[in-house]
Amino acid sequence: EALKVEVANMTAKNASEADELYVKHLSKKGDITLLMQDFRNVPADQKKEVGMKINELKQMCIARINELKEQTEVQESGDEAIDLTRTAYPIELGSRHPLTIVKNEIIDIFQRMGFTLADGPEVEDDLHVFTKMNFAADHPARDMQDTFFVEQSKLNDVTKNILLRSHTSSVQARVMDASQPPIRVICPGRVFRNEAITARAHCFFHQIEGLYIDKNVSFTDLKQVMLTFAREMFGPETSIRLRPSYFPFTEPSAEMDISCHICGGKGCGFCKHTGWVEILGCGMVDPNVLELCGIDSTKYSGYAFGLGVERITNLKYQVSDLRMFSENYTPFLKEFENAY
Ligand code: PHE
Repeated sequence: EALKVEVANMTAKNASEADELYVKHLSKKGDITLLMQDFRNVPADQKKEVGMKINELKQMCIARINELKEQTEVQESGDEAIDLTRTAYPIELGSRHPLTIVKNEIIDIFQRMGFTLADGPEVEDDLHVFTKMNFAADHPARDMQDTFFVEQSKLNDVTKNILLRSHTSSVQARVMDASQPPIRVICPGRVFRNEAITARAHCFFHQIEGLYIDKNVSFTDLKQVMLTFAREMFGPETSIRLRPSYFPFTEPSAEMDISCHICGGKGCGFCKHTGWVEILGCGMVDPNVLELCGIDSTKYSGYAFGLGVERITNLKYQVSDLRMFSENYTPFLKEFENAY
């Protein structure tokens, strides 16, 4: 009984003290071991009771020593002590990037109108980025100032230059090369331009370009689809305005503004008091482009549009500095945690 009390009150400051307790009680010459050896001298009529008590004592002792060992191990590992109250999954959940949220929303809107997705390489050849898009051989966009070149053609054939695509129109060229109308695709992707990084420009950004080619496609179709997109994206009261513009691959071409969704078109600092903000470029696909991509321009017509995901995100969430999207500044990114 005295041993039982002693065992119950055992303490150890460190692992070796716990080991000593083991030697004292359970090793070959330990007192509990000796007690067990003495067991044969116990009168037969007491064997059952005494046996049970000794066994109980031994189990208690083993359990207590194990407990002490665990405790001292935790103490000895210092700051790295195992904290059993810590959650099992301490990894903080990330959130969707604002550009991904807006890109998905744009894709969703166009998919509901029957557009499918198309994809292409970021490292492209001149043929798909410029030549098939009706850029003249001396067009300034081909110039080093705009485009990142990867490899200059050894045969001095500009169409074989390898570059980082400067717009996703290259994907449209690939789709037209590979299929015949009706074609209704959107091409989301990253594009690259050799520009200094400022609040308003970056050397890369994200585009979604769209292409629709079929019999009798007219500017009216383009305008209605763009209006629907603008209203889905910025609210049902949104109106659009098309201004004549120029792109080598569309004729006629237009730039599209939406009525400022902040002031509802009345004029505010956000739209520089004009009531309008520009969101995309569009137009009727130039017949030259159709022919260069193997589509009969006497049978088919089509429209194309291209928008910047950063631009739409800036407007939608009033982000004024483009650089925020690529700086991995988590307080900024966390603001979009509940956006979608
Ligand atoms: N490719 C144009 C750009 O990058 C956008 C655009 C696409 C304009 C299709 C008109 C039609 O600026």
